[in-house]
Amino acid sequence: MLTPEEIKKNAGLYAADLVKQGMSFGLGTGSTVYWLIQELGKRVAEGLEIRAIPTSLQTVQLAREAGIPLADLNDIDSFPLAIDGADEIDPNGQLIKGGGGALLQEKIVAAAADKLVIIADESKLVSKLGAFPLPVEVIPFGYRQVTRRILDSGLCREVKLREKNGQPFITDHHHYILDCKFEAIEHPLFINAAFENITGVVETGLFLGMASQAIVGYADGRVEVIQFI
Ligand code: 5RP
Repeated sequence: MLTPEEIKKNAGLYAADLVKQGMSFGLGTGSTVYWLIQELGKRVAEGLEIRAIPTSLQTVQLAREAGIPLADLNDIDSFPLAIDGADEIDPNGQLIKGGGGALLQEKIVAAAADKLVIIADESKLVSKLGAFPLPVEVIPFGYRQVTRRILDSGLCREVKLREKNGQPFITDHHHYILDCKFEAIEHPLFINAAFENITGVVETGLFLGMASQAIVGYADGRVEVIQFI
């Protein structure tokens, strides 16, 4: 049986074949994407010409270290592919993302790409979203009011300000993250719209109707491609 890291590595390596010569593509964030970056770095050193549109500062740093050229989203009219990780994937390809705090830029890049491919280990497959607390990115100013609005609306049962080293976690775009706990998210479209209706909310970690496929690694060494759209 493979270790969790080996499973992620298998998914990342499999996805590297989707990135073709001359391609600009969205490059996600997280420990599974890490392996994709390492593999693409090797291929760039062997002559593969690509440009990555990064989804976080962490990915900018890793891509630079691996020697992968970067592109600014504002300089690209269209691009065929974004590859990213996920925290939960339901059978319809609906996702929770943002465990690493990069959901806003990840969502902007995913929305701009023709196709979003998710890479993950089998633990991310769920029958229903919501066991993983939903990350919601908010403006720091008045975030306690936003927290109250969320709880008063009965949208979820608990809201926790994400912290790092005892201080509020600050996103790449200088916002806070509220991790919102549910029993389960029965109606993701409704929940997403309800959160986005609250002034002060920037974006939620619900990625709905965005993923085309998931490349999923298993402990027995298999890699499965699940098609959604
Ligand atoms: C970061 C994300 C990540 O893609 C998600 O948390 C999955 O990460 P990992 O591959 O490390 O499990 O959404 O904001």
